[in-house]
This record gives sequence, C-alpha cells and structure tokens, in this order.
Amino acid sequence: MSKCVVLGITGSIAAYKSAEIVSRLKKQGVDVRCILTRAGAEFITPLTLETLSGAPVVTDMFHRETPWEVEHISLAKGADVFLVAPASANFVGKLANGIADDMLTTTAMATKAQIVIAPAMNTGMLTSPAYMHNVEVLKSRGCVFIEPDAGMLACGDVGRGRLCEPGHIVSYVVQLLNVQQDLLGKTILVTAGPTIERIDPVRYITNRSTGKMGFAIANAAANRGASVTLISGTKADLVLHSGVKRIDITSSEDMYDAVSKEFDACDYLIMAAAPADFTPKVQAEQKIKKLGRSELCIEFVATKDILAAMGARKRDHQLIMGFAAETENIEENALLKLERKNVDFIAANDVMGTSTGFGVDTNSVMLYYRGGRKRASGLMTKAELSNWLLDSMIEHLR
Ligand code: CTP
Repeated sequence: MSKCVVLGITGSIAAYKSAEIVSRLKKQGVDVRCILTRAGAEFITPLTLETLSGAPVVTDMFHRETPWEVEHISLAKGADVFLVAPASANFVGKLANGIADDMLTTTAMATKAQIVIAPAMNTGMLTSPAYMHNVEVLKSRGCVFIEPDAGMLACGDVGRGRLCEPGHIVSYVVQLLNVQQDLLGKTILVTAGPTIERIDPVRYITNRSTGKMGFAIANAAANRGASVTLISGTKADLVLHSGVKRIDITSSEDMYDAVSKEFDACDYLIMAAAPADFTPKVQAEQKIKKLGRSELCIEFVATKDILAAMGARKRDHQLIMGFAAETENIEENALLKLERKNVDFIAANDVMGTSTGFGVDTNSVMLYYRGGRKRASGLMTKAELSNWLLDSMIEHLR
C-alpha cells in the first residue's frame, strides 16, 4: 500500500511552491492529501492542488454536504507523515498553544503521525521571541522543523525566512516514510563540515566542505531510531532532525576535543567532516599588516588526526567509518587510510566530480572494508547514500 502524506498549506507567498512538493511526492509514488487554509487559498487554488494530487483538497470553505468532522479525523489517522509547507508563524503559534480553529489545526492536533513543519516568513517574525518559543515547544513534543533558507524575501528584505527548496523537503519526507527503526538503541557519533583555522583576528583558512553529507547521515541515523550526536564545523542551517544533539565547533583542535569526549559512549563513529590537516603555527594577536611586505609566509603545523586517534582507542563493539576525499589514485589512498587509521570502512569519493563531493546534493562512493571487500554505491542523493552506508554498517555486524 502506498504511503500517505497529508500536506498542510498556509497563507504565505511561498504557497505556490506546494505545487512542486505535491508533484514531486506523487512522482515518488506517495499519496498526497492537501489541506489548504483560508489564507493559503489566497495564494494557490484548490484546483491546482486537486489536479496535481489527484484527490479532493480540504479547505475551510465548508459545504453542508461534506462530512468534514469525520473527514479530518480520517485524514489525521491516514497520514504517515503530516507535513506543513509553507507553515506561517500563525500556524506554528496555534499548534504550539493547542488552538484548533480550522481544518488544518484540528487535523494536526488529532494526528499521531510525525509532524514536519517547513516555515516561511519574514526574518523579523522568524527571530521574534514568540515564534522562537513556539518552535521550542513544538520541538519538545517531537515536531521536526525544516529550517528556511536565506535570500531575498517577498517583502524585499534579505535574510532567513524563504521556504526551504521543495526538493530538500521532499527528500527529507520520503526518507521519513521509508524508516525502519533498525538503529534503535545505538549511539552514533557523526562529524560534518569544514574546520576554520585562525590566522589572525580577521583571517582564517578553511576548505570546501559544506557539511551536507554529515548532516544527511545524522538525519538518516536519527530517523532509524539511533541516538545521534553531530559535531559540526559548519554553522549553516542545514535540515537537521530535531532529535539530533548538535555540537558546533570551529577548529580541528575543537573537533578533536569534542569527538574525543563523545567517542567512548558511541557504537558507531562516522567521520564525514573535513578537519584541517594543518593549522597556523602562530595565531597573530593583531591583524597582520601589509605595510612594507612583498610576501607573506605563514608556517603551518600538523593537527591531530582525529580518525587515527579514535582508531587507536577503538573497542571491539565499536565500528568506525572514515571518508576519503581524493583527487587522484582513489583506491590506493583509500586502502592506505583504512590501515593507517585502523578503521572498519573508508568511503572514498572523488571530490573533483561535478555531481560528487563538496557542496552538491548527490554523491557516489566506493566503500572499502577491512579485509579487502569493496562495494560501489552508484550515484545517489546524499540522503539515499546515508541510508546505504548505514545499511552497510548494519549488514557488516551481522
Ligand atoms: N580526518 C581526521 N582528522 C584530520 C583529518 C582528517 O579525522 N585531521 C578524517 C576525515 O574526517 C576523513 C578521513 O580522516 O574521515 C580522511 O580524510 P582525508 O582528508 O581524505 O585524508 P587525510 O587523512 O587528511 O590525508 P590526505 O589529506 O593526505 O589525503
């Protein structure tokens, strides 16, 4: 039987993007039932959503002949995931405070399905104490938020508040629909993103890692029931499952300290981060001045290899996966890393590709196991690849 997503659409200029969400979900074989609020209907018509979803759209324009009281309960029960996109500050406020005064809020209150909220609003509203408090309340009740992107907003302001890209919302929801709770009871430590190595108070050195792979792994593991800690070198607002404990760090040294502290308690360590291998030997107290210099030499010293240090500390029940970002001799380098760092797996990817590696939403790895086995993932989204990697770890334990 196909899975069902109930999609709530509230009053926001981003409501037109719900059409793309419906269409993408349908293409993935998901049944979609839309609930459109009165304000939402000012921005997108029920007919558009009805045509795309192939099902009647529930609106607040009651018809005497519609058995709506029964209908909203059956929708609440039938949902595998309850998605609200775009969600207005008004909807978030009502749900947080138990106000059920329309079809969407009554249905959302009645559902036992996972509620996923993708807000869209002006930056001022998004950062207002009232909204932020309501978000905390809903998160504490298990609702998941897909944070908005930054950019030019409909009101002319530039800032955070734009509905997250429909493609991201859909891949997150589809991943949720396919969950098996096969990591229940496991503690997983994931690292993501680059590190920042300070040169002087205004300059630093970093790398091209964006954290997308590590965040996708953390989300996939949390969806599958694991208790997940994510140590992140990126401050970017990437979609993160609300159950994940996030620790933000800056330098390679900070990442070492954080991983070291959490490592003994974890069953799996997945090092998807790109910590810097070198850091300036001296961090200048004051800004380095240009005056009179024709060149500048900065001396670097090696940082600690986190993966190798944890590999040396690893106990029998623990599994460690490292990544290998390579530009040449992928296999040879990956095998060397597997041995040198005493890890169970190395996921090697070619970071020179246009659809693999840094910043993109897809990736393809060759997974090398201790003992000589190797498997190719093929090109997939980072969300899919995360599940593929977790499957590989689970299967290896068996
Ligand atoms: N890594 C780490 N600590 C570092 C550098 C890298 O734990 N200081 C981890 C990365 O998170 C990754 C793996 O080691 O999981 C391989 O990283 P990569 O940059 O490919 O390799 P390096 O060991 O840094 O070697 P090289 O840069 O020479 O390829």
